[in-house]
Formats: sequence, C-alpha cells, structure tokens
Amino acid sequence: MEKFVIKGGCRLLGEVTISGAKNAAVAIIPAVILAEEPCVLENVPNINDVFVITHILHEMGADVKILNKSTLAINSSNIAAKEVSYEMTRHIRASYYLMGALLGRFGKACVSLPGGCDFGVRPIDQHIKGFEALGAKVSLEHGMVSIEADELVGGQVFFDVVSVGATMNIMLAAVKARGMTVIENAAREPHIVDLANFLNSMGADVMGAGTSVIKVRGVQKMHGASYSIIPDQIEAGTYMVAAAATGGNVLIKNVIPKHLEPISVRLRKMGVIVDEYDDAVRVFRKGGDVMTVNVKTMPHPGFPTDMQPQITMLLSVAQGTSIVTEGVWDNRFRYVDELRRMGAKIQVDGKVAVIEGVEELTAAPVRATDLRAGAAMMIAGLVAKGVTEIEDIYHIERGYEDMQGKLSCLGAEIKKINDFSKSALTAAL
Ligand code: EPZ
Repeated sequence: MEKFVIKGGCRLLGEVTISGAKNAAVAIIPAVILAEEPCVLENVPNINDVFVITHILHEMGADVKILNKSTLAINSSNIAAKEVSYEMTRHIRASYYLMGALLGRFGKACVSLPGGCDFGVRPIDQHIKGFEALGAKVSLEHGMVSIEADELVGGQVFFDVVSVGATMNIMLAAVKARGMTVIENAAREPHIVDLANFLNSMGADVMGAGTSVIKVRGVQKMHGASYSIIPDQIEAGTYMVAAAATGGNVLIKNVIPKHLEPISVRLRKMGVIVDEYDDAVRVFRKGGDVMTVNVKTMPHPGFPTDMQPQITMLLSVAQGTSIVTEGVWDNRFRYVDELRRMGAKIQVDGKVAVIEGVEELTAAPVRATDLRAGAAMMIAGLVAKGVTEIEDIYHIERGYEDMQGKLSCLGAEIKKINDFSKSALTAAL
C-alpha cells in the first residue's frame, strides 16, 4: 500500500508549472474518435485518468503514440464500434464521453456505466435526455448503456441541472448530426470551451461554448488536428491554496488567470495576495492569519466544487468561524473526518460545513477519500505539526501530475513509501 509521508511546518517557496487540464483531456481524447484522421494533442497531463482513457481507445483499435511526456498522437481511423466493458470503464468516470463520441462517429454506442469518485449519486439522466433529443434510442441493461440512432438529427435540449459531463457528451454526439442542436442551461467551465475549440479545430461548428446556450451545426466530416490542452484550473487553484496555507510565496506558471478568478477572489477576501501576470499568478501572504470567508460551490463562474476540500482545509486554520456550502454534489465532505483526526474543528450537516479555525493542525495517519480530498490532505500535511502519513494516494495520482515532485521543488519534505505492514497487507488482501 503506497503512502505519502509529509513533514509539516514548511513554507512553500519558488515556482511551479501547471500541467494540462485533466477534465479537458479526458473529454478531448475520446473526441479524437470523431475524426477518421490522426490528431496530435499537446500539454496532455501525465496522470492516471489520461492513461486509462487512452488505453481504452487503444483497446478499441486506435493507434496511440506517446511523442513525449505531454504529447500524444492518436489515429482512430481503424477504431471499431465495439462494446466498452465495465472492466475498462470502472476506474474512470469520464468513460461516459465514449458514449457521445462513438454515437457521433458510428450512430451507435454500447458503454458500461462508469465508476469514479464516490461522493453521492452520479446519475447520467441528463446525458440520456440529450441523446434522445438527437433522435437516439437509449436502453440500460446489465450495467451497459446502449444507444442507437438510424440518423442523428439536431434537436433542442434543456438540462434540468447544469452538468459538465452531459454538456460535453451532447456536444460530442451532435457535431455530425443533421441540422442544428441547441443546448440550453449548458455548463460553462473552461474545459467545456476547450472541448468546443478542439472540435472546431477538427472542422466542427460549435458556437457559444462558455455561455449557457451552446449551438452545434452538424457537419458531414471531421478531419485530424493538432491541439494544445488548456492549463488545469483546479491544479493551479490547489497550489494557490497550498502557498497560502503554508504562508509561502509561490509563482504558479502556465495558467490562464481569467480561469482562476473564482478562486483568486475568495483568496483575496481571506487576506491572501494574488498577483496576476499574462500566464502566471504569484500567491503569498503579507503576514497575519488567514481571514475567514463563507463559500458556496457552484457551476462556473461560481467557486468550483473541485476546490471545496482545499478551501475547507485552508479555512480550518483561519482566524474565526466560516461556512462552506456544497452546491453541486450530495456528499462531498467525507474527507472532513480525516481533517478532524488532525485537530480540525468542523461540523457537517448535509451540504453545509461549519468550520471553526484552530491555531494549528497536528500530524496523524489519514487517507485520501477522493482525488481533491487527497490534495487537501497533502496541504494539511504540509501545515500540520509533525509527520503526516496519507494512504490511498492512488486517488491523488489519478488527477495531479507528480504532486510529490512539484511540492518537493517548492521545499516540501515528502516521501512515497510502500507500506507492506500487516495492516496494509490485510487491507490490500
Ligand atoms: C465533472 O463531473 C468533473 N469530472 C468533476 O470533477 C466535477 O466535480 C463536476 O464535473 C462538476 O464540475 C470530470 O470532468 C471527469 P456534472 P460530472 O455532470 O460531469 C448532477 C474532479 O475532481 N447530474 O457536472 O460527473 C450530478 O449528480 C471531478 O476532477 C445529474 O443529476 O459532473 C451533480 O449533482 C470530481 N444528472 C451535478 O449534476 C446527470 O445526468 C453536476 O454533475 C448528470 C449530472
């Protein structure tokens, strides 16, 4: 069982470079299926979710070449529209994008329901609503979603809830449908815009991405393209919080400051300095404690839900009491028990956490309960007095490229150990 062992009490100092956006990459890679010609993708993050989704394409017959650490060449001209089994999809939530991509390419798809983070129910009813609006028939049997359309015809879909996944999936299915598709109440995240830009670079005609109304005019054919994925808004936000929490001073490079605004605004309210440059931000504190702020997570341009554990961790050592409300997921506070083990004073009631700031956290053996919670525990370990051990670090490695290396370059003392103690072995068996 691999663990991170983190020595607390360090101030992060120096520069860190942000990798490509996970939630853009896991949609853009399946989107390559729509073009029957080679595509080259740059600034691809080196993370397990990308390896998994790329492996699925390879298993389906795509030719995948790793040109360098962050560049992939994928040719899906020979891909077969075969079933995508649970064995392939169980480790990654984003496998649902194969539904839209295969439907858009072949007029049919058969994909197992996905796995992914466990923080409440993760339905796909809005995805299905969108596929049906394009004239597809959708059935669910034995955990497999089967989608079929004699012909995909542009339609109108109004999402009952803002959904990143459903917005992306319907864009994928609609780009080669006959006529115009209108998606209303669409998600507006930066990665939605990135997918739309990639699709348009392949010859699609997607308009309005980044607003709540997206129009897709179907095209006959899509061609190969070279495309560079945007920097990861959430990875950047995570390092911004880490710099603030440790009282450090960090230049965070390869970012789009506009994407970070929802995070920068809250950090500034907490007394943290965020200086913006063309493609970087510098984060530091001018002495004194972190001040409290109340936060509600919302779809973009609101405060991102994927930054909720990180900001809650920072507020746990702020001066005073604050409230964090989870506006997107039903149960995204599972990690609070782990923070409590380190001395945090947090009460959770459903989607609301009341946080009473403490002087300091103390090291304890904890675990990563999901991807972003794991990142929050890493920051807690940097801040806590003593040496913190974090288990289940595979969650972190799903979505953060070399977090141990990047933090170490900023002065953190982090080791990765294989703990084959009896307890670890028992847990692993
Ligand atoms: C994406 O998940 C991200 N994952 C999540 O990031 C992120 O938390 C989420 O968007 C919100 O920003 C990827 O992009 C791979 P949703 P997704 O559809 O698409 C409800 C991370 O840490 N809903 O926007 O699954 C749903 O239950 C991960 O990188 C329906 O009711 O999220 C939730 O309450 C964790 N029916 C809300 O909408 C549906 O058909 C938002 O979900 C779909 C969603």
